Amino acid sequence: PTRLIVDTDTAGDDTQALVLAACSDRVALEGVTICAGNVPFEYQIENAKYTLDLAGADEVPVYEGAREPLEKDHEFAEYIHGEGGLGGDLFPETGIPSAEAHAVDFIVETARENPGEITLACIAPLTNVALAFEREPDLPELLNEVVIMGGAVNTLGNITPAAEYNFWVDPDAAAVVMDAFETTLIDWGLTLRDSTFDTDVFEAVEVMDTPLADFYLTVTEAVRAFNRQSDHDALGADVTTQPDSLAIATVLEPDIVEAASTYYVAVDDREGMTRGYSLVDELSVTDREAKTRVIESVDGDRFERLLLDAFRHGDP
Ligand code: BDR
Ligand code: CA
Repeated sequence: PTRLIVDTDTAGDDTQALVLAACSDRVALEGVTICAGNVPFEYQIENAKYTLDLAGADEVPVYEGAREPLEKDHEFAEYIHGEGGLGGDLFPETGIPSAEAHAVDFIVETARENPGEITLACIAPLTNVALAFEREPDLPELLNEVVIMGGAVNTLGNITPAAEYNFWVDPDAAAVVMDAFETTLIDWGLTLRDSTFDTDVFEAVEVMDTPLADFYLTVTEAVRAFNRQSDHDALGADVTTQPDSLAIATVLEPDIVEAASTYYVAVDDREGMTRGYSLVDELSVTDREAKTRVIESVDGDRFERLLLDAFRHGDP
C-alpha cells in the first residue's frame, strides 16, 4: 500500500477524504496533520479524531500544525460548512490525545526517514507544507508524491471570483509550494465538473443506513443548504461537491484520472482582487518549468462508487 499522510483543515468534505483513506487497503494512513483553515482549530482537531474513530482507524495519529496562515489574517469558512465544520452538529469529543510532535516536524522527519516512500495529500491551505519545506529544502525530493486540492484553473473561484479557498487563505504558502514541488493538482473546476453529487446520490446514501453513510449526510447538510441558495448553474440545486475526497480518490485509484496535463502554475500572493489566483501557463508562454500535473478529468461514476463503497466499511 501507498504510505500516506493527509494534511487537512477538517470540515465536512475533509472528513470524507479521511474516511476514504482510512477504509482503503490501498493506502497505509500514517498520520493526519491539521492546518489552519475552514473552522477554528480545536474543532478541526476533534473532527479529525471523531472521523478516524468512526472509520475504525483511531490508531492513526493526529498531529497539530500551523494555527495561522504564514502572513495573512486568517479567514474561516464556517458560513459554508456550518458551526464546527460538520454541518452544524457538534460531535462528542473522543478523548483521543493528539500526537506529541508538531505536524511540520512529523512531515519532515517521516520524509527524511523514508526517502521516496511517503505520499502527502494536502486538502487544506498549504501552511504546514510551506513550513516543512522551509525546514527541509530537500522535501520535494524526499516525498514520493504530493497531491494538492487547491486553485481554480481557468474557472470561477469559490471564495472570491478569482480564487479557491485553500490557495486564497494562505497564498504565501501556496506560492512557495507550487514553486518548489512537483505536484498533482485537483482544482475547484475539476471538483465542480466531476465530483458533484445530487439528489439521486443522496437517496442512495440514505438507504444504505450505515454509520458512515449517516455521517456523510449529516456533515454535508450545511453545504447542500448553502448551494441550494446559489445562483450558479453548476450549483444552485440540492448538490454537494467533494473536492477533498476526490483528491484522495486519485491516490487510491490513479487510473480514475481520464486526462491530465503538466503546466507551470504560480499563485498570486499579493493582497487585492486576484489574491490566491492560480495562474496556469497553458500555452507555455513563459520559460518557467512545467511541474504541476493538473488533473483535467476523472471518471465521476467510479469516484461515486468508491466513496459510497467506503460507507459500507465496518458495517456488521
Ligand atoms: C477546499 O476548501 C475547503 O472548504 C474544502 O475543505 C476544500 O479543501 C475547497 O475550496
Ligand atoms: Ca479541506
